Amino acid sequence: MDRFASAAALLRDHHPQRPVLGLRPHAAGRAARWFRHTFPGTVVYALKANDAPAIVEALAAAGIRQFDVSSVDEIECARRIPGARLSLMTPVNGRETIRRAYFEFGVTTFALDSAAELEKIWQETNGAKDLTLFVRLACANADSLIPLEHKYGAAEREAPDLLVKARRAAARLGVTFHVGSQAMSPAGYATALDGIGRLIRASGVMVDAVNVGGGFPSRYVDAEPPNLAGYMREIRAGFERLAVGEGCALVCEPGRALVAEAESVLVRVEARRGRHLYINDGAFGTLFDAAHSGIVFPARLVRPTAGTQAPPEPFALYGPTCDSIDAMPGPFHLPGCIGEGDYIEIGQIGAYGRVMATRFNGFGRYDEALFADAPMLTAYAEDAEPADASAQLSG
Ligand SMILES: Cc1ncc(COP(=O)(O)O)c(C=O)c1O
Repeated sequence: MDRFASAAALLRDHHPQRPVLGLRPHAAGRAARWFRHTFPGTVVYALKANDAPAIVEALAAAGIRQFDVSSVDEIECARRIPGARLSLMTPVNGRETIRRAYFEFGVTTFALDSAAELEKIWQETNGAKDLTLFVRLACANADSLIPLEHKYGAAEREAPDLLVKARRAAARLGVTFHVGSQAMSPAGYATALDGIGRLIRASGVMVDAVNVGGGFPSRYVDAEPPNLAGYMREIRAGFERLAVGEGCALVCEPGRALVAEAESVLVRVEARRGRHLYINDGAFGTLFDAAHSGIVFPARLVRPTAGTQAPPEPFALYGPTCDSIDAMPGPFHLPGCIGEGDYIEIGQIGAYGRVMATRFNGFGRYDEALFADAPMLTAYAEDAEPADASAQLSG
């Protein structure tokens, strides 16, 4: 993969016909270092957010050693990382996935949210004695831009019984939840941790680990979340309120926050119609969240040489496929002079971008390049680096 100082530098030498994924592994590394310094426990990366080797290697180089995987393909991807420890944290899995994860790949950590899934894990691992089982609790996703509730999670009234059953099967027992992706306030973590407190009291069971899931937000044009350090404080305080033993581990499992800044997509304008720009990537490509989750990614006109800018005006984008839902309303503020043949860098697409791309209409192929410059937005600027050493607990 070729390395360029920036998207503009790439355009000085090339006129790419396909969209270009511009990787910034250094941004993933910075996010991972920040999390490892500031989260008061163990940081697991949710591989589903971005599985590009250069990004995953940057996370590993920054000390991430544990990966949440969802499928055998993801297991095969993550196990290439030396020393990687894997967990299957989706609470419903196919029998073959469980069996292969345990027997072929040595995965011993599983999540579940029902007695039937517990039974399935027990059967498919032949009653293994070395399992770490996380019971996933349902929790409200009130503040998240992309709620994940209703699909998974044991309800509060069923959870005590499930925890008792899981305790009998587990060498190590944990509880987990997911507050929803792009959680715009830290309050959801506190509420969910208090739910765990009630569960521990109701069940009378001791837990060995608490996993607060993902959900940590990134910065987008329309979504400026509070400082991430506040999330860490809320989680630390909520964890300290729990009746757990000294050795109880605290774990988080971010996807988005670790990798959103680590990729841009450089797209070409194929046509302009008034305030609509037709570009060569879209909702069936890396811009799913711009079409369907209401995220406005930062966008800038990129020309090989500077100096041809004009005042910004609001534009909506259309992707290249025939489908009219292939539309990103934005608004994306771009110079009014923009037109056919221009290139736009759309930033912050590192999370749930490339992994969502389909081959619909024959699109979905990308060139790739490394960009050395800073991401278009960051939650990890120097002044946001952890100063708060007291925020650290042993994990
Ligand atoms: C079990 C689990 N953990 C972690 C994540 C990562 O969430 P996020 O990208 O919001 O941090 C997800 C995302 O769906 C998930 O399903």
